Amino acid sequence: MTEITISASILSADFANLTDQIRQAESAGVDWIHVDVMDGSFVPNITMGPFIVETIHRITHLPLDVHLMIDNPDRHIEAFAEAGATNLTVHIENTPNIHRTLQAIENLGCHPCIALNPGTPANRLEAIIPFVDMVLVMTVNPGYSGQKHIPGMVSKVAQVLNMLILQNRIARIEVDGGVNAANLPALVTAGANTIVSATSLFKYPGGIAAGAQALRSSVA
Ligand code: DX5
Ligand code: ZN
Repeated sequence: MTEITISASILSADFANLTDQIRQAESAGVDWIHVDVMDGSFVPNITMGPFIVETIHRITHLPLDVHLMIDNPDRHIEAFAEAGATNLTVHIENTPNIHRTLQAIENLGCHPCIALNPGTPANRLEAIIPFVDMVLVMTVNPGYSGQKHIPGMVSKVAQVLNMLILQNRIARIEVDGGVNAANLPALVTAGANTIVSATSLFKYPGGIAAGAQALRSSVA
Protein backbone atom coordinates (compact mmCIF):
# COMPACT_ATOMS: atom_id res chain seq x y z
CA MET A 1 0.00 0.00 0.00
CA THR A 2 1.32 3.43 -0.92
CA GLU A 3 1.00 5.92 1.90
CA ILE A 4 -0.26 9.29 0.72
CA THR A 5 -0.78 12.54 2.56
CA ILE A 6 -4.17 14.08 1.78
CA SER A 7 -4.45 17.85 1.90
CA ALA A 8 -8.14 18.82 1.86
CA SER A 9 -8.72 22.05 -0.06
CA ILE A 10 -11.49 24.02 1.61
CA LEU A 11 -12.11 25.91 -1.64
CA SER A 12 -15.03 23.55 -2.26
CA ALA A 13 -16.22 23.43 1.35
CA ASP A 14 -19.52 24.91 2.47
CA PHE A 15 -18.35 28.12 4.17
CA ALA A 16 -21.69 28.57 5.88
CA ASN A 17 -20.79 25.43 7.85
CA LEU A 18 -17.01 25.62 7.86
CA THR A 19 -16.43 24.19 11.32
CA ASP A 20 -18.63 21.20 10.55
CA GLN A 21 -16.91 20.67 7.19
CA ILE A 22 -13.49 20.69 8.86
CA ARG A 23 -14.70 18.30 11.57
CA GLN A 24 -15.91 15.93 8.83
CA ALA A 25 -12.54 16.20 7.08
CA GLU A 26 -10.79 15.41 10.39
CA SER A 27 -13.04 12.37 10.95
CA ALA A 28 -12.34 11.26 7.39
CA GLY A 29 -8.67 11.11 8.34
CA VAL A 30 -7.36 13.81 6.03
CA ASP A 31 -3.85 14.87 7.00
CA TRP A 32 -3.74 18.59 6.20
CA ILE A 33 -6.07 21.46 5.38
CA HIS A 34 -5.16 23.19 2.11
CA VAL A 35 -5.95 26.91 1.88
CA ASP A 36 -6.02 28.43 -1.62
CA VAL A 37 -5.12 32.10 -1.45
CA MET A 38 -5.95 33.96 -4.69
CA ASP A 39 -5.62 37.67 -5.40
CA GLY A 40 -7.49 38.31 -8.66
CA SER A 41 -4.16 39.30 -10.27
CA PHE A 42 -1.86 36.28 -10.49
CA VAL A 43 -5.00 34.20 -10.96
CA PRO A 44 -8.47 35.35 -12.01
CA ASN A 45 -10.27 34.45 -8.79
CA ILE A 46 -10.19 36.14 -5.36
CA THR A 47 -10.50 33.95 -2.29
CA MET A 48 -9.06 34.07 1.22
CA GLY A 49 -6.43 35.91 3.23
CA PRO A 50 -4.60 35.55 6.57
CA PHE A 51 -7.85 36.15 8.48
CA ILE A 52 -9.30 32.87 7.16
CA VAL A 53 -6.07 31.01 7.90
CA GLU A 54 -6.21 32.32 11.46
CA THR A 55 -9.87 31.27 11.73
CA ILE A 56 -9.13 27.74 10.50
CA HIS A 57 -6.17 27.54 12.85
CA ARG A 58 -8.61 28.10 15.73
CA ILE A 59 -10.94 25.38 14.39
CA THR A 60 -8.40 22.59 13.83
CA HIS A 61 -5.02 21.30 14.94
CA LEU A 62 -4.33 19.83 11.50
CA PRO A 63 -1.33 21.34 9.68
CA LEU A 64 -2.31 24.21 7.37
CA ASP A 65 -1.00 23.86 3.82
CA VAL A 66 -1.22 27.41 2.48
CA HIS A 67 -0.98 27.82 -1.30
CA LEU A 68 -0.25 31.44 -2.24
CA MET A 69 -1.47 32.29 -5.75
CA ILE A 70 -0.72 35.98 -5.33
CA ASP A 71 1.58 38.61 -6.74
CA ASN A 72 4.23 40.03 -4.38
CA PRO A 73 4.09 37.11 -1.94
CA ASP A 74 7.00 38.65 0.00
CA ARG A 75 4.65 41.33 1.28
CA HIS A 76 2.31 38.79 2.84
CA ILE A 77 4.27 35.76 4.04
CA GLU A 78 4.76 37.10 7.55
CA ALA A 79 1.02 37.62 8.00
CA PHE A 80 0.30 34.05 6.84
CA ALA A 81 3.01 32.63 9.11
CA GLU A 82 1.57 34.53 12.08
CA ALA A 83 -1.92 33.30 11.17
CA GLY A 84 -0.73 29.70 11.67
CA ALA A 85 0.46 28.41 8.29
CA THR A 86 2.53 25.23 8.45
CA ASN A 87 3.55 25.12 4.77
CA LEU A 88 3.85 28.26 2.68
CA THR A 89 3.86 27.56 -1.04
CA VAL A 90 4.81 30.29 -3.49
CA HIS A 91 4.77 30.12 -7.29
CA ILE A 92 8.02 30.25 -9.21
CA GLU A 93 6.41 32.17 -12.09
CA ASN A 94 5.95 35.46 -10.24
CA THR A 95 8.59 35.39 -7.52
CA PRO A 96 11.79 36.89 -8.97
CA ASN A 97 13.95 36.63 -5.84
CA ILE A 98 12.78 33.11 -5.14
CA HIS A 99 15.75 32.06 -3.04
CA ARG A 100 15.29 35.03 -0.70
CA THR A 101 11.55 34.34 -0.45
CA LEU A 102 12.09 30.67 0.45
CA GLN A 103 14.66 31.60 3.09
CA ALA A 104 12.27 34.18 4.55
CA ILE A 105 9.56 31.51 4.79
CA GLU A 106 11.94 29.18 6.60
CA ASN A 107 13.04 31.97 8.96
CA LEU A 108 9.37 32.50 9.84
CA GLY A 109 9.17 28.86 10.98
CA CYS A 110 7.18 27.49 8.02
CA HIS A 111 8.08 24.85 5.46
CA PRO A 112 9.22 26.57 2.24
CA CYS A 113 7.44 25.08 -0.78
CA ILE A 114 7.42 25.93 -4.48
CA ALA A 115 4.63 25.55 -7.04
CA LEU A 116 4.80 25.18 -10.82
CA ASN A 117 1.95 26.03 -13.18
CA PRO A 118 1.16 23.56 -15.99
CA GLY A 119 3.00 25.78 -18.51
CA THR A 120 6.21 25.96 -16.46
CA PRO A 121 8.87 23.33 -17.15
CA ALA A 122 10.31 21.28 -14.29
CA ASN A 123 13.85 22.48 -15.00
CA ARG A 124 12.98 25.96 -13.66
CA LEU A 125 13.37 24.33 -10.24
CA GLU A 126 16.90 23.09 -10.64
CA ALA A 127 18.74 25.78 -8.66
CA ILE A 128 16.30 25.94 -5.77
CA ILE A 129 15.74 22.25 -5.07
CA PRO A 130 18.11 22.38 -2.04
CA PHE A 131 15.92 25.04 -0.42
CA VAL A 132 12.43 23.52 -0.67
CA ASP A 133 10.58 21.04 1.52
CA MET A 134 7.86 20.41 -1.08
CA VAL A 135 7.29 20.88 -4.81
CA LEU A 136 3.67 21.44 -5.84
CA VAL A 137 2.98 20.38 -9.43
CA MET A 138 -0.22 22.06 -10.58
CA THR A 139 -2.36 19.64 -12.57
CA VAL A 140 -4.80 22.39 -13.63
CA ASN A 141 -4.26 26.07 -14.32
CA PRO A 142 -4.68 27.70 -10.91
CA GLY A 143 -7.78 29.72 -10.11
CA TYR A 144 -10.72 27.44 -9.45
CA SER A 145 -11.64 24.10 -7.99
CA GLY A 146 -13.63 21.63 -10.07
CA GLN A 147 -11.46 21.84 -13.20
CA LYS A 148 -10.39 18.91 -15.34
CA HIS A 149 -7.00 17.36 -14.59
CA ILE A 150 -4.33 17.86 -17.31
CA PRO A 151 -2.89 14.37 -18.00
CA GLY A 152 0.50 15.57 -19.34
CA MET A 153 1.50 16.55 -15.82
CA VAL A 154 2.37 12.96 -14.89
CA SER A 155 5.69 13.22 -16.73
CA LYS A 156 6.47 16.49 -14.95
CA VAL A 157 6.01 14.74 -11.60
CA ALA A 158 8.51 12.09 -12.77
CA GLN A 159 10.97 14.82 -13.80
CA VAL A 160 10.68 16.48 -10.39
CA LEU A 161 11.29 13.16 -8.65
CA ASN A 162 14.36 12.59 -10.79
CA MET A 163 15.66 16.05 -9.90
CA LEU A 164 15.20 15.37 -6.18
CA ILE A 165 17.07 12.07 -6.48
CA LEU A 166 19.93 13.62 -8.48
CA GLN A 167 20.33 16.38 -5.90
CA ASN A 168 19.88 13.98 -2.99
CA ARG A 169 17.10 16.15 -1.60
CA ILE A 170 14.26 14.71 0.46
CA ALA A 171 11.17 16.77 -0.34
CA ARG A 172 7.53 16.02 -0.90
CA ILE A 173 5.89 16.12 -4.32
CA GLU A 174 2.36 17.47 -4.13
CA VAL A 175 -0.21 17.46 -6.94
CA ASP A 176 -3.12 19.87 -7.06
CA GLY A 177 -6.04 20.15 -9.46
CA GLY A 178 -8.68 17.76 -10.69
CA VAL A 179 -7.21 14.85 -8.75
CA ASN A 180 -9.54 11.88 -8.33
CA ALA A 181 -9.36 8.13 -7.76
CA ALA A 182 -9.07 7.52 -11.52
CA ASN A 183 -6.05 9.72 -12.22
CA LEU A 184 -4.28 9.43 -8.84
CA PRO A 185 -2.55 6.05 -9.41
CA ALA A 186 -0.49 7.37 -12.36
CA LEU A 187 0.53 10.47 -10.40
CA VAL A 188 1.60 8.39 -7.39
CA THR A 189 3.49 5.92 -9.59
CA ALA A 190 5.34 8.90 -11.08
CA GLY A 191 6.36 10.12 -7.60
CA ALA A 192 3.57 12.20 -6.05
CA ASN A 193 3.06 11.51 -2.34
CA THR A 194 0.96 14.46 -1.25
CA ILE A 195 -2.46 14.99 -2.79
CA VAL A 196 -4.56 18.14 -2.78
CA SER A 197 -8.24 17.70 -3.38
CA ALA A 198 -11.30 19.91 -3.10
CA THR A 199 -13.99 18.39 -5.31
CA SER A 200 -13.09 14.73 -4.69
CA LEU A 201 -13.59 15.32 -0.96
CA PHE A 202 -16.04 18.14 -0.26
CA LYS A 203 -18.25 17.43 -3.29
CA TYR A 204 -17.91 13.67 -3.26
CA PRO A 205 -21.40 12.18 -3.65
CA GLY A 206 -20.98 9.79 -0.71
CA GLY A 207 -19.47 12.42 1.60
CA ILE A 208 -15.99 13.44 2.64
CA ALA A 209 -15.05 10.16 4.37
CA ALA A 210 -16.03 8.13 1.31
CA GLY A 211 -14.08 10.54 -0.90
CA ALA A 212 -10.93 10.18 1.20
CA GLN A 213 -11.36 6.41 1.21
CA ALA A 214 -11.73 6.34 -2.58
CA LEU A 215 -8.48 8.31 -2.99
CA ARG A 216 -6.56 6.10 -0.56
CA SER A 217 -7.87 2.80 -1.93
CA SER A 218 -7.04 3.84 -5.51
CA VAL A 219 -3.36 3.57 -4.61
CA ALA A 220 -3.61 0.75 -2.10
C1 DX5 B 1 -6.72 25.45 -7.89
C2 DX5 B 1 -6.36 25.23 -6.45
C3 DX5 B 1 -6.73 23.89 -5.96
C4 DX5 B 1 -8.19 23.56 -6.02
C5 DX5 B 1 -8.32 22.09 -6.27
O1 DX5 B 1 -6.21 26.66 -8.32
O2 DX5 B 1 -4.97 25.41 -6.24
O3 DX5 B 1 -6.20 23.63 -4.65
O4 DX5 B 1 -8.89 23.87 -4.83
O5 DX5 B 1 -9.65 21.80 -6.49
P1 DX5 B 1 -10.10 20.44 -7.21
O6 DX5 B 1 -9.59 19.32 -6.38
O7 DX5 B 1 -11.57 20.56 -7.25
O8 DX5 B 1 -9.47 20.51 -8.57
ZN1 ZN C 1 -4.16 24.74 -4.22
